[in-house]
Amino acid sequence: MSVVDVPLAEYLVEARSSGSWPDVGPLEIAFAGRSNVGKSSLINTLTARKALARTSNTPGRTKGLIFFRVQPQGRPELRFVDLPGYGYARVSQQERHAWKTLVEGYVTERGTLAAVVVVIDARRGVKDEDCDLVEWLLAVGRRPCVVLTKLDKLARNERKLTLDAARAAFAKAGLALPKPPIGFSSRTREGRDALWARLLEGPA
Ligand code: GTP
Ligand code: MG
Repeated sequence: MSVVDVPLAEYLVEARSSGSWPDVGPLEIAFAGRSNVGKSSLINTLTARKALARTSNTPGRTKGLIFFRVQPQGRPELRFVDLPGYGYARVSQQERHAWKTLVEGYVTERGTLAAVVVVIDARRGVKDEDCDLVEWLLAVGRRPCVVLTKLDKLARNERKLTLDAARAAFAKAGLALPKPPIGFSSRTREGRDALWARLLEGPA
């Protein structure tokens, strides 16, 4: 697939409490994953913007659901939704609960949610929380799209092995991914075209 141009990419709103989502509009693609895996960077890479989504070295910065308007060239407008990261040890029980309520409410209730991209750090591989998330998405009828990012940090000969190992890790947990994981790097933009193709091919 050729390079996707994105003429429109702008911040819409941050939702910090359940039900305070923006009015229903274009189809939405949400980005979920452990803290610090590179979700916000991935959104910036897909939209070819330097700092549309806020990135940070400090895990667990994003607290609300951040909605962006995004329009790929020649395609209908979409929304991207940057979800707060999970699995960060240094947050309180209360914050963990808040995350769950916020994200669960959105993912289960949002009629216009078309896909959930599950972002995993390729160096760290698939963790229990990632399996829990994928299992839950499948259970509530959302098809996960798994992406392994920070691929630039792996040696070339490790990349395919890592993608295969990720798929195997989900299979071992009894989870059959609808499509194989996509390798990605926000440094080199590797995987950008493949991920766009996956997102635009209809129900992801
Ligand atoms: P939270 O919102 O805190 O959950 O983090 P996040 O998942 O949005 O991660 P973010 O995009 O803020 O990136 C975290 C760190 O990883 C930053 O220092 C990024 O520069 C770095 N990073 C993100 N993607 C890549 C990548 O593909 N390659 C490399 N080498 N570094 C990356
Ligand atoms: Mg983020």
